[in-house]
Amino acid sequence: MKTEPKPNVEFDNVFQDFIDQYPTYSDTQILDDLRETDYSRLDKLGHIYLDYTGGNLYAESQIEKHHELLKNNVFGNPHSTNPTSLAATQLVNEARAYVLKYFNAQDDYFCVFTANASNALKIVGECYPFCENSQFLLTYDNHNSVNGIREFAKHKECGFDYVPLYIENLRLDEKTLKEKLKSFDHKTNKLFALPAQSNVSGVKHPLTWIRYAQKRGWDVLLDAAAFVPSSPLNLKEVQPDFVSMSFYKIFGYPTGLGALFIKKSSFHKLQKPWFAGGTVNFVSVGESTFSLEESCARFEDGTINYLDIPAIKIGLEHIESIGIETIQNRVRIFTDYLIKTLLELKHSNGREVVTVFGPKNTTNRGGTIILNFCDENGKMIPWDYVEHLANEAKISLRTGCFCNPGLDEVYSCVSITETMKYFSQMNKGGFKEVIKYMGKLRGAVRISVGIATNFKDVYSFIQFAKQFVNMNASELEFGHYMSEH
Ligand SMILES: Cc1ncc(COP(=O)(O)O)c(C=O)c1O
Repeated sequence: MKTEPKPNVEFDNVFQDFIDQYPTYSDTQILDDLRETDYSRLDKLGHIYLDYTGGNLYAESQIEKHHELLKNNVFGNPHSTNPTSLAATQLVNEARAYVLKYFNAQDDYFCVFTANASNALKIVGECYPFCENSQFLLTYDNHNSVNGIREFAKHKECGFDYVPLYIENLRLDEKTLKEKLKSFDHKTNKLFALPAQSNVSGVKHPLTWIRYAQKRGWDVLLDAAAFVPSSPLNLKEVQPDFVSMSFYKIFGYPTGLGALFIKKSSFHKLQKPWFAGGTVNFVSVGESTFSLEESCARFEDGTINYLDIPAIKIGLEHIESIGIETIQNRVRIFTDYLIKTLLELKHSNGREVVTVFGPKNTTNRGGTIILNFCDENGKMIPWDYVEHLANEAKISLRTGCFCNPGLDEVYSCVSITETMKYFSQMNKGGFKEVIKYMGKLRGAVRISVGIATNFKDVYSFIQFAKQFVNMNASELEFGHYMSEH
């Protein structure tokens, strides 16, 4: 097996120790090879990238293949029979068929190309037949683009309700979930939304809830945006009614494209409130009638991104050439090693340096870790100060609440009363104002590993974390770092 670049002897020993602990790491050698070719820009530019949940990184070969395609062809706007239009249509069709095959969805689903996962979710929110007698149920752990659907529900006087999480592991309170799924039997048009994987805690929620909910009359919306970059999703096995995702999260390029999978049997459930170019078979102006397309085109308003869509096939081919299981294995190993090593860091007085929220092992969890650093007195180091130090070290990580306020409210122990009090008095503030008003530190630091992560990245982050050992926050000038209290 080829060895990694070794900055020093200590690294050498630590790496050897790591290899001994994780013998299957060598099965993921292909990713170290690609790091030196397709992802070499990371080392050339000295970046330590730990934000794969924010956005994945593209391989250079993806860009080259896509640019070759554009350079050597002439593509016109699809929706016509002229030769350049047909050439574009053919590639869009190929990409769509490839996506459906990749997720084993070719028999049962339509694949609607969208701008991103949020746009896919908005289509469901806008078109789902919410009414006074329907119900929207969602998990506390959800991205804001799913939370936002409740506004469509409210607008149509449909009730909505949240399923809580356990604070210890940020997993679903399954007893309550079961009760809630059973308690709306008298309602029609019931939509249950959950993420396949949390974009914050990395928790993979059990996909078995999809079938369970459907059997009790619910339509299920699965937000797969954080799951599919490092896990296989087989839509023959689990069959949610609607699935959302963004392609840049799987293979980095292109941005601006996502998908909404609609189960064919649920297609007519969605009621599009308007029509647009490309979505109709026929419109009359004299007589106010129209007839919508009976396929994915119904939800693709106007001209689709026909020059970038072919790059989706290139991206998926890249993932297949590696194997999603290989990526999954690599992510699992690094996540396990990071959690264990960070939790072992101790101040001289024995206190922990790092608090990890959510599961502390890799059972049913992905490669996203949410944590905070604490000083020797157990006081949380402001995450914006951590971010500042990380930026200086060219480490790309995330801080804040990651568009997932429900999860933040759970692990920061924010009560509904506190939130209500704030909104009754303030109403307009951003996250920082809320923190100041409540006098309570919220938010955290998020790191995530992925396709191009190597041991050097992981090692560098652990070295970075060591600077907090024996730190005394009260002796530090945090200055403008707002989360200080
Ligand atoms: C779980 C999840 N859902 C939805 C989204 C929204 O994706 P986008 O910003 O690409 O629309 C994200 C983005 O981070 C996510 O992680």
